[in-house]
Amino acid sequence: MAYTYEYYKKSADHLLERFGGAPEIGLVLGSGLGHFAGHIEDPITVPYAEIPNFLRSTAIGHAGQMIFGTVSGKRVVCMSGRFHYYEGYDFEQLSIPVRVLKLLGIRALILTNAAGAVNKSYKPGDIMVISDHIKLMGASPMRGPNIDEFGPRFFDMGSTYTPKLRKLALELAEKSPLTVHEGVYWFTPGPQYETPAEIRAIRALGGDAVGMSTVTETLTASHCKLPLLALSVMTNMAAGVLPQPLTAEEVIETANSIEAPFTDYVKDIIAHI
Ligand code: HPA
Repeated sequence: MAYTYEYYKKSADHLLERFGGAPEIGLVLGSGLGHFAGHIEDPITVPYAEIPNFLRSTAIGHAGQMIFGTVSGKRVVCMSGRFHYYEGYDFEQLSIPVRVLKLLGIRALILTNAAGAVNKSYKPGDIMVISDHIKLMGASPMRGPNIDEFGPRFFDMGSTYTPKLRKLALELAEKSPLTVHEGVYWFTPGPQYETPAEIRAIRALGGDAVGMSTVTETLTASHCKLPLLALSVMTNMAAGVLPQPLTAEEVIETANSIEAPFTDYVKDIIAHI
């Protein structure tokens, strides 16, 4: 499938018509913000299945809808349910959500996710503002013919996680009961969790947290120069740190346990963007 500018525009035009206006800020809600949608004032909800040329959610716990409304006085659009490589999508397909958000006219994007803590000074329930990422897997959502309307063929990744937004998030963390770090996110394709040896290698190579999402969205945002903030919820200590096996239940339980303060924190960030 060769994607064109018009391909993405068809999805965006449909959404703009349904929303009746353009959002300022986009959010991709990962684990820990499942109920964030309940905090959106005057919501207009569009299931992914009704958006032309869009993807379908298959992941457990991901609702699969786009919600437009107001949070902290700003017009936001939230993706409740994201798309992952492990679901069977290829990297090129995973460019779709962020390109559509870009065409809606947002001026900043906030990504949230669940991640395993590789850095042993982190604890489950802590938050990490992503400063940078490492993806050694040889794939990119920008592979294939370049779409010049979005950005250049070759693009810089030096300040992809926008320094100004990271600074804002760290400043606002001081008012929050959450413990907020800044660190490097290591992408793994999943769906298996990592082996203890992989986690030791990731730690040695500079990863602070590990997860199966976000980087395709990050790369797509970077290509089209969308200011970006990405926040990881440490839902568990990564493989081999503790004696017990990792489970999806533990990930969901920890994410749910910080839902209220994390929602307040993200609302405060939106108020200040
Ligand atoms: N590894 C990868 N992805 C994750 C983890 C993990 O430990 N926890 C939550 N998402």
